[in-house]
Amino acid sequence: MEYFIESGDKPAIIEYPITQFFLLMVLLILIAIELVLHTIENVMFQTLSEEAKERYLTSKSKQYEWTWAKNLIAKLSGNKPIEEEGEIILDHNYDGIKELDNNLPPWWVYMFYATIVFGVVYLVRFHMYNDYDQALEYEQEVVAAQIAIEEYKKTAKDLVDASTVELLTDASDLNAGKSVYEANCTPCHLIDGGGSIGPNLTDKNWILGGGIKNVFSTVSNGGRDGKGMIAWKQTLKPAQIAQVSSYILSLQGTTPANPKAPEGDIWTEDSE
Ligand code: HEC
Repeated sequence: MEYFIESGDKPAIIEYPITQFFLLMVLLILIAIELVLHTIENVMFQTLSEEAKERYLTSKSKQYEWTWAKNLIAKLSGNKPIEEEGEIILDHNYDGIKELDNNLPPWWVYMFYATIVFGVVYLVRFHMYNDYDQALEYEQEVVAAQIAIEEYKKTAKDLVDASTVELLTDASDLNAGKSVYEANCTPCHLIDGGGSIGPNLTDKNWILGGGIKNVFSTVSNGGRDGKGMIAWKQTLKPAQIAQVSSYILSLQGTTPANPKAPEGDIWTEDSE
């Protein structure tokens, strides 16, 4: 039920009390079945003859024996039954302590043979035919791990920081960035990025550095003291900061209605 019923964070059994009722019904039905079976057995028993009753009772009281398991253990350990130990007792007697000359236990011998086979296969495979070595194995594991990390990062977008962030170009990310921008940034940067209290975001001039990494770090850590640009990492998630930063950069080169005069230096990719 937990698997099939969609119940959000809570277990289905708590979210929908009817499921508890359902389980209760199942329990009652099981009890009923048990009772019916027991009654049938009882009625049938009464119809048996005395002798048959006797036989039935003895067969029922006989306990199940793990004969096959016991045989297997006896075979693997290879011990002589205690009655036959006289045959293998050694002719030594140390103050009344005697020694049995048991065979090596077969389980041990089989394992020993297995190690020999393993050794031969290993020798041929790795020393004569030079199959993969540790270095190759290591590299393969590193590659596999890197793929796993990439996969993980796709699902965990909030892992980005200023050093790992990359410019997002997906329409969905840019739209999400646009909503973050419109909800938080327009009072100072205006809806089209033209700037009022904050600088123009559409020109090539940047006070605190352009490019996704600098913009990300400005948005998360804020501008220079006293200028009015706060650190948004308190309010926005890393993924949102990456989205809004990418959105701002998508405004580059657009012409806002009332562009604020350029501030800061012209930024190119290599002025990092
Ligand atoms: C209260 C006004 C205000 C708000 C709201 C605001 N900013 Fe700013 N922003 C500024 C000011 C002022 C600066 C200039 C900081 C400086 O000179 O150090 C600035 C600078 C920036 C810069 C750096 C520009 C450059 O030239 O280096 C970026 C990027 C930026 N803001 C993005 C944002 C984003 C994204 C938001 C919304 C999440 C936002 N800002 C919200 C006032 C604001």
